[in-house]
Amino acid sequence: MSIWIKGGDLVDPERGVIEQSDLIVERGIIAKILPRGTFRDAGPRLRVIDASGKHVVPGLVDMHVHLREPGEEYKETIATGAKAGVVGGYTSLACMPNTIPPNDCSSVTEFILRQAQKAGLARVYPIGAITVGQKGDVLTEFGDMKKAGAVGVSEDGYSVANSELMRRAMEYARFHNLTVICHCEDTRLSAGGSMHEGVVSTRIGLPGIPSASEEIMVFREIALARLTGTPVHIAHVSTEGSVNLIRRAREDGLPVTCETAPHYFHLDHNAVIGYDTRFKVNPPLRTSADVEAIKRGLSEGVIDVIATDHAPHSPMEKDLEFDRAACGMIGLETALPLTLALVKEGVFGMAEALRRLSYNPSKILGIPGGVLRVGGLADLSVIDAEMEYAMKEEDFHSKSKNSPFIGMPLRGRNDLTMIGGKIVWQRDTAHIDR
Ligand code: DOR
Ligand code: ZN
Repeated sequence: MSIWIKGGDLVDPERGVIEQSDLIVERGIIAKILPRGTFRDAGPRLRVIDASGKHVVPGLVDMHVHLREPGEEYKETIATGAKAGVVGGYTSLACMPNTIPPNDCSSVTEFILRQAQKAGLARVYPIGAITVGQKGDVLTEFGDMKKAGAVGVSEDGYSVANSELMRRAMEYARFHNLTVICHCEDTRLSAGGSMHEGVVSTRIGLPGIPSASEEIMVFREIALARLTGTPVHIAHVSTEGSVNLIRRAREDGLPVTCETAPHYFHLDHNAVIGYDTRFKVNPPLRTSADVEAIKRGLSEGVIDVIATDHAPHSPMEKDLEFDRAACGMIGLETALPLTLALVKEGVFGMAEALRRLSYNPSKILGIPGGVLRVGGLADLSVIDAEMEYAMKEEDFHSKSKNSPFIGMPLRGRNDLTMIGGKIVWQRDTAHIDR
């Protein structure tokens, strides 16, 4: 069976263009890309997807999610996280190692891949821990995890305090061709804090996390990238100072890339005033000046990637006093509209948005995806960029509902997700069979 995706605007983030093209998918591969209206060969075994008025985009690639399996399946499983992903328009997810036990050896990496295979939804790429048990003392077996299928290493959720160990990790990762993803936090400086340290934290009486706790470590990772020559990727950038450090590093020609998440360009620390723990996240929501700097970084291309840091938590961890609640918010089902809001605002164009949601993360991780080209994998999404709606708690496919964007007006949503030529999810109205 072939599939004809008809009438859509095809977004090519690699070339930075949008074209009125039809796509023919055969045996998991993009067989043809033709100017709209020129395809005639409609055989009987052809399924037609009407994409008119919609954008056909390379499937989104989230290089930073927490799938909570093994160990915290009551918050999310690989299957429910992958489902939330494909509904949100994602075809690939890279999952962070802070599970229970952590993904710090090949048997956990293999387990994750087996569960992903069983779920049969998004492609899942495990990220291995940098130290055994994420305890910060002993490096894990990078080569074993790589062989088992890990694409990168990170201590996400925690931080590697020991600079000598981080240097060795970078050298070791480079040898094994694994992407190093840095969660930047000086945990002595952030200890006890539950929101950004500034006028709001002082006013509402919550202990603060200074921007310096992130920036010190961003600077260290840049210095170590210079020392070792290893490419490093800075996770969830939240401050103006971090953006400036990374901009300078790039000007110096250093192999440094970075990501931010939608909450860092939509929300600031004022959101915490009502003590709603859905706004508690690590790194914390910063000031409006930081939000503007993040947008500038995205617009200039200093920030390469928009990841979600999808961090499911149950009411058990969230319905607590603010300082005792867990950090994190879900993001897979809201990242697309929240990013498209920046297109409306003029921060960047549609193709640039897709570059940050799909092309760049694929390149940084060294995984397939991010492009739509003849002969390439048919991993794609069909999105309706104009659809206006609000998410209700029951609309989420994630097992956890800890989203601060519930009830907020959103514009733009995914209608269909195809992975390897197979439609893994579609909204009821997205196709016509003939
Ligand atoms: O907010 C966060 N939640 N930040 C992290 O670094 C970890 C994550 C989690 O695992 O919940
Ligand atoms: Zn993190």
